[in-house]
Amino acid sequence: MILIKNIGQLVTPADSNKKSGKEMGELKVYTDVDILIDGDTISKIGKNIDADVTEVIDAKGMLVTPGYIDSHTHLVFGGYREDEYKMRLEGRSYVEIMNAGGGISASVNKTRAASFDDMYSTGLKRLDMMASLGVTTVEVKSGYGLDFDTEIRQLEVINKINKDHPLDVVSTFLGPHSIPKEYKGRDREYIDFVVKDVLPYVKEKKLSEFVDIFTEKGVFNNEDSKVYLEAAKEMGFKLKMHADELYQTDASVLAGEMGCKSADHLLKISDKGIAALKEGGTVATLLPLTAFSIKEEYAPARKLIESGVPVALATDYNPGSCHSMSVPLMVALATNYMSMSIEEVINALTINAAHAVDRSLSVGSIEVGKKADILIHSVENIDFLPYLFGINTVNKVIKNGKLIIDKDGEYVYRK
Ligand code: NIG
Ligand code: FE
Repeated sequence: MILIKNIGQLVTPADSNKKSGKEMGELKVYTDVDILIDGDTISKIGKNIDADVTEVIDAKGMLVTPGYIDSHTHLVFGGYREDEYKMRLEGRSYVEIMNAGGGISASVNKTRAASFDDMYSTGLKRLDMMASLGVTTVEVKSGYGLDFDTEIRQLEVINKINKDHPLDVVSTFLGPHSIPKEYKGRDREYIDFVVKDVLPYVKEKKLSEFVDIFTEKGVFNNEDSKVYLEAAKEMGFKLKMHADELYQTDASVLAGEMGCKSADHLLKISDKGIAALKEGGTVATLLPLTAFSIKEEYAPARKLIESGVPVALATDYNPGSCHSMSVPLMVALATNYMSMSIEEVINALTINAAHAVDRSLSVGSIEVGKKADILIHSVENIDFLPYLFGINTVNKVIKNGKLIIDKDGEYVYRK
């Protein structure tokens, strides 16, 4: 059994419920407790714990939080699109570049050409990078194949990195991420192909538990999306949507009505969309690194929170619209530009994100009986997280009860 002792401040969502409204600003703070870990599980939180301890981890008076959950990424893909980022820096928009043949279809060509082994080894390295930033559970989507073989290859890589890497990976099928060139102008036929020929295989081989779709002007409309989501729901998949990102389409209304676990992006969400998410119990997953990268206005976090919608934050790491997995930069953007408090940010990155990937009973808070996914930071309290903007404060990562990252000896921001 492992004992984490000498904790300066232990900060966690108080329980496993989805947090919305005022509750998003509340956290439980312990200042005088140790944590006992038995195997992969948190077995006690308290003082003077009497147990058969085999290993002691000294938190050196520093901040302890739950591991972060990155509930929206496209981490498995082939090739890069640094040329497009350069064009954006020179003033061209994401949509212009997409219409000129760049965007998702550029990554589809590169991913179709990428081997399983290439995507597997880069996938593992990217998970290492995520772990060092404090991410302990990560959702990963397919969606750069848009044909049977490549979509399945991506999903098989996602499942294999889940098996072989200490982080937990949640797999999402995103076949309708774009209309492939083979189906140009025939979006409904592509949806029919996905529903008839791909989803049943994904289900049978247990390759994904979630499905997602990019509902957007010029991509899939709300009717296509409804056909797809209804079919997927019928087959037992849990649902997610990329909604109201570049244009307001009221995809969020559909997300709420369909009972999606999350609706993501939401830069252009309407009041009707906000009401539907609240009604549907759908988590609003905001992706500020993407808004930064494509130079769009940030999602209306305050309005969503004040309207009672549970908000999560995620990186959206992908080769195009957001080639960054920087949790520290995301925290800085959320606190500075979206006016979220650090308490709201922590709930958004832990328990609400756990709900977005349907893992709220096992991760997302430090509670007895939950998995021991725990971060020890190199700072003493949560106010340092925005204050030390852009800097990784994670010093130790415990994942499923194992110390997987240990940067002991690194400078500690001790007062
Ligand atoms: O979540 N918005 C749609 N899909 C991705 C972008 C993918 C890409 O540009 O390759 C996103 O931002
Ligand atoms: Fe995305």
